[in-house]
Amino acid sequence: MKQDWSQNLGRNPISPKTSSRLPGFYQLPISERLNIANTFSDISATSDLGNCGNLSPELIDVFIENAVGTMALPLGIATNFQINGQDILIPMAVEETSVLAAASHGAKLVRAGGGFRTASTAPVMTGQIQLFPKERQDFTSILLKHKQEILSWANQGMERLVSRGGGAIGLNWRFCEDINSLIIYLDVDTRDAMGANIVNTMCEKISTLIAGLFPCDIGLRILTNLNDKRLAKAECVIPASAFETKKFAGEEIVKGIENAYLFARHDVYRATTHNKGVMNGIDPVVIATGNDWRAVEAGAHAWCCRKGVYQPMTKWYQNNDGDLVGSIELPMAVGTVGGVTKLHPTAQAAIKLLGNPSASGLAEIIVATGLAQNLSALRALASEGIQKGHMGLHQRNLELIRKGT
Ligand code: MEV
Repeated sequence: MKQDWSQNLGRNPISPKTSSRLPGFYQLPISERLNIANTFSDISATSDLGNCGNLSPELIDVFIENAVGTMALPLGIATNFQINGQDILIPMAVEETSVLAAASHGAKLVRAGGGFRTASTAPVMTGQIQLFPKERQDFTSILLKHKQEILSWANQGMERLVSRGGGAIGLNWRFCEDINSLIIYLDVDTRDAMGANIVNTMCEKISTLIAGLFPCDIGLRILTNLNDKRLAKAECVIPASAFETKKFAGEEIVKGIENAYLFARHDVYRATTHNKGVMNGIDPVVIATGNDWRAVEAGAHAWCCRKGVYQPMTKWYQNNDGDLVGSIELPMAVGTVGGVTKLHPTAQAAIKLLGNPSASGLAEIIVATGLAQNLSALRALASEGIQKGHMGLHQRNLELIRKGT
């Protein structure tokens, strides 16, 4: 398809008072950074750029570089969730109207069928090391011979992780002719940590050991966000009667939801929107618990392409009893210890609200929320349409905009 491109920065044509080239900006106190930013774009000195919310200026300065303030998001609690027999309240941080209502409604429908059943694999993350060998060798023999030594070296200095049952557990490799690269895959059980830092540290460390085994140059050393060994899944069965309304028979809605799934299964444009709806449930929990939603997003979408065509994240069908069966399975790299999860007071409160789950437990809760969210969207789409409920809830939002609040 031919696209027309044009330059459209759309910026107010104010003459810049200063350059955006600001060496040493990161070393300035927050108040001075704010002054520079406010002057730069003629913003009032009391602007909300510097609003720190419930985080101390010291903390935001630790979290990110060049910090000036925080960007607050509404935090809500999704109700009605029953997961593996336990009632759970789900914290969700999101700006979109009707997400919380939809998640709670989806969970209520699932509750009518006994709630979600969830499970997860061990929290295994994978790191990649790229090596450029100077000549072809029998890499498999060399790496097999040194595998245990490499894994032990990766675990050196990680005694606390190892004592908790984690650590480097697997080493795999493949040669990619196209880029003359030997690609090493290091599997690490990161227990309750998301694990990016653990994996990256290990990859950098063992790369020098491996590079000493044959003449080569070292390329990239970094985790993959396609963490397809760290999966979480959720399933549910909902009686058709739960969907009954004055206007629609339960089985009619069940059939409609199955058809909506099939549409996504066979049309990539629909699959993308279907999955956006799933992520409406997933991202807010990932954010509320202080986890890296970009990593989760990247992993989830890549996983959906694993068969070569972008596929829906969930699956829905009508069983022989006429009831609706739903499932979801996704990579889910989230942690409950360390990093922002540990330091952010709201993330801490959110984890407590969830009953202090393990990282795997949190992953299961997150995918169940994604499934509930998707169910609710498909139910509405397959019956009265999405706008009736959404615009009803969105009304107050529009009122505020009209009043200029
Ligand atoms: C809107 O945020 C999400 C939906 O578009 C999802 C879907 O179409 O399945 C309603």
